[in-house]
Amino acid sequence: MERPEDDSMDYSTILENVPEGTFYRFPLIPIHGVPLMKPIADSWERIEKFQARPDDILISTYPKAGTTWMQEIVDSIMNEGEVEKTSRAPTHVRSPFLEICSPPPVPSGIDLLEVTPSPRLVKTHLMYELTPESFWHQKCKVIYVARNAKDNAVSYYYFDKMNKTQPDPGTWDEYVIKYLKGDVAWGSWFSHVLGWWNARHKHDILYMFYEDMKEDPKREIRKVMKFLGKDLSEDVVEKIYRHTSFDTMKDNPMANYSSIPSNVLDQSLSPFMRKGEVGDWMNHFTESQNKIFDEEYQKKMAGSTLKFRYKI
Ligand code: A3P
Repeated sequence: MERPEDDSMDYSTILENVPEGTFYRFPLIPIHGVPLMKPIADSWERIEKFQARPDDILISTYPKAGTTWMQEIVDSIMNEGEVEKTSRAPTHVRSPFLEICSPPPVPSGIDLLEVTPSPRLVKTHLMYELTPESFWHQKCKVIYVARNAKDNAVSYYYFDKMNKTQPDPGTWDEYVIKYLKGDVAWGSWFSHVLGWWNARHKHDILYMFYEDMKEDPKREIRKVMKFLGKDLSEDVVEKIYRHTSFDTMKDNPMANYSSIPSNVLDQSLSPFMRKGEVGDWMNHFTESQNKIFDEEYQKKMAGSTLKFRYKI
């Protein structure tokens, strides 16, 4: 296989030309109690044994917490703000998705990673407990991004509508209950954010918040630079800030997932770059949904030092 970064158009062509029925709303199968899409569960042994390299940078998130944003920021930092370089391929090729699997002939995330030159930028949605051990043996740097549970739920609801490979979200009313139970792909938001929070001092983990990134993007970009040991000028920070803004990414075909065909991501149902705000949950939660959510939240987060902001 060619270097995937030279092969990005082929990847979209493969997706477009798969036999009918290759993609469907895959059922969730529990792996160590965490519901994962069937093709991922079927490949679990290979994922678990994934061999990290010491200079891999892992970006870990619960789905819809700002993964793509952080991938663009880190790739921009690694390329010192040079847009020609960050435009070399779409996000999923520049920063492959570790555990993603689809039926053949679609290459899996690991297939792409194996032919990606170092330093690799690896994306995962796996819980801390399910993350391949080799990342810890190799002492890899990890950037975790967390987003408040309510905005995260709203974003995931719209994504589950447009992602034709994940279970149908049903109505918003039904979805809130499923989300609270963790009955969605990659499991419970609570277990995810808490698992990584509790592990943050055990390894080289930078724990970031979507709300902080919205509040002061340049401050947060500098935080990531420092963590990666990159000392870039303020001009470059400014360039990265502009290149990774919501409006720029929304129009950037290399960052807005427009190269993924509609049999996988149907952006006519909901755009991938949807709103990019803090507090959109207020437009969705009814008073009673909010009450149920808050009660469950208190129970699940009790005793933790992990705190979120629901508006900025
Ligand atoms: P919304 O659905 O609330 O708009 P992920 O990349 O983890 O799938 O997360 C997607 C969410 O991050 C979407 O949230 C998307 O709009 C938002 N997002 C992506 N890029 C962003 C940016 N540059 N600034 C703010 N939000 C961004």
